[in-house]
Amino acid sequence: MPKSSRSISRAPIAKKSTKFTPNNLPSGIEIIDGNFKGKDIVSLDQFDKKSIKILFETVPKMRNIAMKASSSKILAGKIISLLFYEPSTRTHDSFEAAIKQLGGSVIGSPNPAQFSSAIKGEDLYDTIKTEEGYCDLIVLRHPQTKAAQDAATAATTVPIINAGDGIGEHPTQALLDMYTIYEKFGKLSNLKILLVGDIKNGRTVHSLLDGLALYQGNEVYLLSTKNLRLPEDEIKQFENKGLKIHTITTEDEIPKDAHVWYWTRIQKERFSPKELKNYEKIKNSFIVTAQMLKKHANKNMILMHPLPRVNEISKEVDSDPRAVYFKQTRNGMYIRMALLILVLGKQKTIRPHSKT
Ligand code: CP
Repeated sequence: MPKSSRSISRAPIAKKSTKFTPNNLPSGIEIIDGNFKGKDIVSLDQFDKKSIKILFETVPKMRNIAMKASSSKILAGKIISLLFYEPSTRTHDSFEAAIKQLGGSVIGSPNPAQFSSAIKGEDLYDTIKTEEGYCDLIVLRHPQTKAAQDAATAATTVPIINAGDGIGEHPTQALLDMYTIYEKFGKLSNLKILLVGDIKNGRTVHSLLDGLALYQGNEVYLLSTKNLRLPEDEIKQFENKGLKIHTITTEDEIPKDAHVWYWTRIQKERFSPKELKNYEKIKNSFIVTAQMLKKHANKNMILMHPLPRVNEISKEVDSDPRAVYFKQTRNGMYIRMALLILVLGKQKTIRPHSKT
């Protein structure tokens, strides 16, 4: 059973259902199946095409709201806790902006790893049990893989949205990435997509591959240094889900007809102190320049990046109309607005005259 929100949780606390747990879903996490209300959003594996369609259909209405000079009142009275134990610019600020656009309120220390009682030794379980008494929904970013799943198990009355868990998943990023691709090509199937950089540790990469695997005929090219390749067992898993995967090692192997280039940062923070020398060796392996785009890309493709970037896309490329990474960041706010409305069960309060 989906979790009830704070405003209706004065009734006895809803116990989370563990009735339906398909093999590929973390224990206790439910598929969306077109109904977002009260559900934790932990993994892209929870999504099917129908749910993604519902989410995407809500986005233009969110854009309309965001374009207005004053915020809407759709989430008036709703309190959302932003718990970010890892640094973030886009995910944190776009969630905060999304909540404010919709008239909701935000709580949470700007840096819980340093300024919350975590510093005194409080564990995530106790923090989540405390926060759920104050709010209607918790957005969590955490350095540990599966932290969002643990938080979802701990929270019995409010939903958890995973804003990135270690090298695990980043479902809201994948949804905004997919929306950006859909906006350009009008489809999410039969696409050739190049993913470059930190394929092994990239949580945005993992979630995006999960999303692309929902649609037919997608072919993925993975370009990275040897030590940052997707492990064989994960390649098999994605192939079993329907993706055609090519591991490539040089820029010359990039197919000229690729629809999307999805560049990622090599994440220094995922290297252990012993491995840092290796980071220095590989950090400049793949850098997009205007010259490189000219040589390997076609005119209709898009260049994406979840950001932050270090130097892997040269700034000279920013003015190329194919570079859409800042459009992605804006889409992130719309997608998160839509998700908040759906998870908090407020979609019926969107004004009917909102354009779609
Ligand atoms: N893409 C992304 O997750 O960016 P932030 O780390 O700035 O949130």
